[in-house]
Amino acid sequence: MRLKKIKNADEIVENSRYTINRPYQYKGKWNVEVFQNQHEIQIEIGCGRGNFIIAMAQKHPEINFVGVEMQSSALVKAVNKLAVLDMPLPNLRLICFNAMNLGEVFDGEISCIYLNFSDPWPKKRHWKRRLTSEVFLTVYDSLFIDTCNIIQKTDNNDFFDFSMESLENYGYQLLDVSRDYNAEDNVETEYESKFRKDGIKINYGKYTKEKN
Ligand SMILES: C[S@@+](CC[C@H](N)C(=O)[O-])C[C@H]1O[C@@H](n2cnc3c(N)ncnc32)[C@H](O)[C@@H]1O
Repeated sequence: MRLKKIKNADEIVENSRYTINRPYQYKGKWNVEVFQNQHEIQIEIGCGRGNFIIAMAQKHPEINFVGVEMQSSALVKAVNKLAVLDMPLPNLRLICFNAMNLGEVFDGEISCIYLNFSDPWPKKRHWKRRLTSEVFLTVYDSLFIDTCNIIQKTDNNDFFDFSMESLENYGYQLLDVSRDYNAEDNVETEYESKFRKDGIKINYGKYTKEKN
């Protein structure tokens, strides 16, 4: 996502009640110290401006959510949306963090990772940057509780094919797939809404793997 640099974005993000500024402090303690309940924790990696993760937190108060985004210029939009909500969301937190280092933040605590419209990095030489490459799948292993669950949506067919092969080679099993996803209970992301308006079909893949 190419973004205009927003003045004071870092500061605004840091000062939000939803932001966890030193997330590695809570490694292994998210349920007890952050959410103060034993509900499952799901994360979206690359949550951008937060449309999906905020809507999910509103729809599922019984689940804890963490939005992970490395660009404060995107996350600031999520923070601003949250600041004007009528009802606060105790089940949502945001972290401004590179997913490559998530092993420093969670330890056997996550039940599901959402990868929504992740950057496809189409050039072959950039394959390691794709959030479904083996490099990232290795990082994700230690985050999950027992079963590793990944749900992906993307407009990009080549990236979807790459992801399917990468996940299956890594030991994930494909549970559900659609090349034109239109589930009734779908929660749209910001990018998804734009693609759907342009008539672009959405790929959906749901994967699972037992933790090693
Ligand atoms: C194309 S946007 C999609 C945003 C949102 N998920 C949606 O569907 O509307 C991808 C986002 O992923 C973020 N991102 C890419 N690589 C990341 C990484 N390694 N760690 C955290 N965020 C990342 C980018 O900064 C960008 O905001």
